[in-house]
Amino acid sequence: MRIELRAVSKAYGRGEGRFWALRDANLTVDRSTHLAVVGPSGSGKSTLLHLLGCLDLPTEGEVLLNGTPRTSLTDRQVSLLRRTWMGFVFQQYYLNEAMTAFQNVLLPLELGRGADRRTKAVAALQWVGLGHKLHALPGQMSGGEQQRVAIARAIAHGPALVFADEPTGNLDTESGNVVLGVLQALHDERRTGLVLVTHDDRVAARAARVVRVRDGRLE
Ligand SMILES: Nc1ncnc2c1ncn2[C@@H]1O[C@H](COP(=O)(O)OP(=O)(O)O)[C@@H](O)[C@H]1O
Ligand SMILES: [Mg+2]
Repeated sequence: MRIELRAVSKAYGRGEGRFWALRDANLTVDRSTHLAVVGPSGSGKSTLLHLLGCLDLPTEGEVLLNGTPRTSLTDRQVSLLRRTWMGFVFQQYYLNEAMTAFQNVLLPLELGRGADRRTKAVAALQWVGLGHKLHALPGQMSGGEQQRVAIARAIAHGPALVFADEPTGNLDTESGNVVLGVLQALHDERRTGLVLVTHDDRVAARAARVVRVRDGRLE
């Protein structure tokens, strides 16, 4: 899976209130990517991540998915590509509080095909080091453990690319380090492309490439 932004800009609002959150961004990501996106709050980092992950549409410019313009694909096709090849991790984990770790990871797999969903869910949780917490509820886990459940959910289907927006933003140093280790291993051991939005210098230090965003522009 390769995603390419070509001269992409994103504006929010209309008329007088129109605000350009991202301007003229050019960027390509694939399996080999290990990229940290840094910059001050409000500079456009999340906007960039949402455009790469096809969670939002550009106002100007072109997004290419495996070389095909996104605009020539149906919503259904884009959503299938996203479900098959991409995974997302957010600062707030977004786990279902009423479901166990296992159920949280299984849930998105139920949308896909394949008979081995339960095995995949367990394998993903084992991979993030939570094989002993399969039946724990989010409320019974630490922040770092909850984020690892979220990572397991993001990788259980074997995506080519994982997008993470401030994945250590809510964590103390110790749990943050564990989460960063898991993300790093995704790239090193599973050949998964990583795009990490972060304020965290440790994340940027480990990344193969750092893109700085300032006032909506990539430097
Ligand atoms: N849905 C939205 N509607 C209006 N403005 C938005 C919206 N999302 C983001 N913005 C604005 O766009 C700018 C960039 O936001 P964002 O990409 O979230 O920045 P970052 O992730 O770097 O903090 C900010 O000024 C923010 O207020
Ligand atoms: Mg943000």
